[in-house]
Amino acid sequence: MVSVLDDGWLGEVLAQVAGASTLDALHEAAVELTGKRSALSAARQALGALPPDERRVRGQQLNDLRAQVEAALAERRSVLQAAQRRLRLAADRLDLSEVLAARAPRGAGGHRCVPGDGRWGRGRVHLVQRTRDELEDVFVGMGFTVADGPEVETDWYNFEALNMPPAHPARGMFDTFYLDVEPPDGVLLRTHTSPVQIRVLQRRRPPVYAVMPGRCFRRETPDARHLPVFHQVEGLVVDEGITFGDLAGTIESFTAAYFGADIDARLRPAFFPFTEPSAEFEVTCTICRGSGCRTCSHTGWVELGGCGMVDPAVLVAVGIDPERYGGFAFGFGIDRCTQMRHGIADMRVLLDNDVRILRQG
Ligand code: DAH
Repeated sequence: MVSVLDDGWLGEVLAQVAGASTLDALHEAAVELTGKRSALSAARQALGALPPDERRVRGQQLNDLRAQVEAALAERRSVLQAAQRRLRLAADRLDLSEVLAARAPRGAGGHRCVPGDGRWGRGRVHLVQRTRDELEDVFVGMGFTVADGPEVETDWYNFEALNMPPAHPARGMFDTFYLDVEPPDGVLLRTHTSPVQIRVLQRRRPPVYAVMPGRCFRRETPDARHLPVFHQVEGLVVDEGITFGDLAGTIESFTAAYFGADIDARLRPAFFPFTEPSAEFEVTCTICRGSGCRTCSHTGWVELGGCGMVDPAVLVAVGIDPERYGGFAFGFGIDRCTQMRHGIADMRVLLDNDVRILRQG
């Protein structure tokens, strides 16, 4: 047997360590090389029989050898652990693109289409639905969950709980369709997806990281950028220690992920009763690439939506302690995203049922 102090012992040992291909094998090697019954330990015990001078020199050599073996073991361990972590991450990874590709096509009305059903061929996913699916994927990839709420709402959810009591001037921002049911003016078609924030906060306690897509309604005359029936995605984060920087970073990440890095996003100060401070966010107009055109009213920018830090009054309305929790919220138009992503100069074509548009889904 080679003695630990022979030339070549260390080389053999280091090769053995480097050759351990699993963490279990490495553990066995460590026991064998440095444990109680190892050659190193035996050599240390044998020191006692030596004269003091020689004992000191040998002792120092043995310490050096042990330090080198332990360093090699530690290095190999971290390499194997990193490999194991990489394998685990790869196994846990969710491939969202695969889920999308495997999905059966859906018609514009949301119904499943039967492959090869007659001369019309397969139905297509409407461009707006596709945008919604893609936006959901982007946010799920960022760690958000998806929630929804009703299209018919009460005044309390759509306005009051969002810090807009009756006769609040900000209600004027929303031209509302009221339903002819009791109480008068108490039930309406939601004018935005913000009421779903309230419903989510009633169901769940913080931390909340949710997006809420859905259909909204306003008494508006359709034009190049507005439809009376449109879609929004609401976002809500309520947790401890949330800052405006988190909001700005989230908006930037989602616009870059959805529109691509060559489209800029910017925030501009604004007012919403349910957030303070509030901002509007805009992206470069994709029709003119920022040089100004009719679609963007010659500004080079198109407004996607609003955002801000959740007003403490909203948290109080759902019984959450605003001293402990804070958050941010945003809401933006899905149809606007479709328009900007696909370079659609006039949004009304999304409702026209022109097959050249429908076929693109
Ligand atoms: N609900 C607003 C609208 O439709 C948009 C909005 C602004 C949503 C600020 C938010 C927000 O969540 O924080 O005009």
